[in-house]
This record gives sequence, C-alpha cells and structure tokens, in this order.
Amino acid sequence: MSQSPQSPSKESDAFHHVGVEVDHVTIQFGSNKIVTDVSFAVKPGEIFVLMGASGAGKSVLLRAIVGLIETSAGKILIDGMDAANPETHRKIRSALVFQSGALFNSLSVYDNLAFYPREHRLMSEKQIREKVMDTLKILSLEQAAEKHPSELSGGMKKRVAIARALVMEPQLLLYDEPTSELDPIMAATISEIIAALRDQYSVTSIVVSHDRELAYSVADRVAILHKGDLRTVESPESIQKNQDPVVKEFLNPEINLASPRFRKIQQS
Ligand SMILES: Nc1ncnc2c1ncn2[C@@H]1O[C@H](COP(=O)(O)OP(=O)(O)O)[C@@H](O)[C@H]1O
Ligand SMILES: [Mg+2]
Repeated sequence: MSQSPQSPSKESDAFHHVGVEVDHVTIQFGSNKIVTDVSFAVKPGEIFVLMGASGAGKSVLLRAIVGLIETSAGKILIDGMDAANPETHRKIRSALVFQSGALFNSLSVYDNLAFYPREHRLMSEKQIREKVMDTLKILSLEQAAEKHPSELSGGMKKRVAIARALVMEPQLLLYDEPTSELDPIMAATISEIIAALRDQYSVTSIVVSHDRELAYSVADRVAILHKGDLRTVESPESIQKNQDPVVKEFLNPEINLASPRFRKIQQS
C-alpha cells in the first residue's frame, strides 16, 4: 500500500525504514520517577516487544516516543531526529494504537478511518474511499464499515484501532496492549496481524504487552521493564532461559501456596 500514488509520503521515500533510539531516558512526574535511565535501540523493520508488570512505565515510554510526553533526561531519536521536536513527527509518520482504541464513538468505522486523511486533506473523497476500504479488507473488517464502535466486539474494536493507524501508512507503528481483554484465539489473530503488517510493509513495530504468547510468536527482541528499569533486551528464545529472578518471575509466575501473601488472602 505504500506504493499507492496518493500516499501521504509523496516527498519522502515510501520504503524508508526508521529506527528508534532510546538513550538514557528518565521520565518523572514531579519527584516521581517513572522511567529511570533506560536505553535501547529498535532496529528498522523490527518487532520490538516491551513487557512489564502493570505500572512499570510502558505506556509512558510509548507516549514519549511519539512525542506526547517529554523526557526529563536523556533523548529519544526517531530516524536520528529528536522525538520531542514536532518537526520530527511531520517528517516521520508514526501511529500509536491506544490500549482503549480511542475510537470516535459517534462516528462509523468508515468515518473513524477516514478522519485522519480528511483532517489533513491528503486525498480526495474518492481516494479516501479506496484507501479506507482497502485497509478494512486487510483486517477483514469490510462488513463493519457502517457500524459504530459500540456495535463491535472487543476483538473488532482492536482491529479497527489498528486499521485506523494503518491508514496513515506509518513507518513506525506502536501498539499499547493490543491483545489485552481478548480471548486467546483473537489474541493470536492480532499477533498474526502485527507480524503480517511488519512483513508486508516493513513497518518498525514497538509492541507494549504482557502477552507472552505474542512476545514468543512475533517478537524479534523482547525487553522487560521493571519498575521503570530495563532488566533485559534479548531474543524470545534466549529470554526464556534468562536466570534473572525478576525476569523469571515475570515470564513464569509461580503461585506459591505457602507464601505469606497467599496465606493472608486465604485467611481474609
Ligand atoms: N501524566 C501522568 N502524570 C503523573 N503520573 C503518571 C502520568 N502518566 C502515568 N503516570 C504514572 O506512571 C506510572 C506508570 O504508568 P504506565 O506507563 O501507564 O504503566 P504501564 O506500564 O502499566 O503502562 C503509573 O504509576 C502512573 O500512575
Ligand atoms: Mg499501560
């Protein structure tokens, strides 16, 4: 689809793949440090899965990458350009698929997808129609075009949110918990979609998730963020052999019936 003549990327190379560098980044709100001196690099065209417990700082980090939050220290570079500079986001098309989907509830699925190209006057209505219908087809959503988000299942909403991001022909696609609240079969479908989009369009993908199946099946590399600290970045194969107790506990949580924590629950 990046070959289409109405591509928003007229001036730039449609096949230009972008990398992301997170360089000694600290993010704090007031005196509360959420992300502490984190560094990693996402290679162009790679699927990078960022895992970690609830509250670890994953969503905050994603927002900083797309320039919605400023870093307190360190730098984030997208294709070598400062993510905090709005100019960078005019040059690089990035799209964040929000955990909630953030769909416009008053608009049909079709109009949700058409919103961005209309707003930016990128194409004629006829071109938009073609683009939106093509994108809906990629995600098996043609039948849902005229429906409103409230009429959709959880899995369909997630797909619509991905479709809406895809309409922007992103070079960098960020997903926040794309499989949360989905049954295992739909979660596996979403994982396949993430892999297929990367394979077909070489879109650099950063996926925040605590879905191990997703990480093991589609990630090129997996990172674990623990209380704002990056514990490891490695391949899905090697991370499963990681001996760091924090990594082990996160990937294979053991329910220890003898632990004081569990006994307390039993007594309450
Ligand atoms: N805008 C904000 N202002 C203050 N605190 C925030 C803000 N956004 C997130 N936080 C706090 O940062 C911590 C990490 O949040 P988040 O990145 O959403 O975690 P998760 O890893 O579950 O995505 C949480 O304690 C959250 O309350
Ligand atoms: Mg989150």
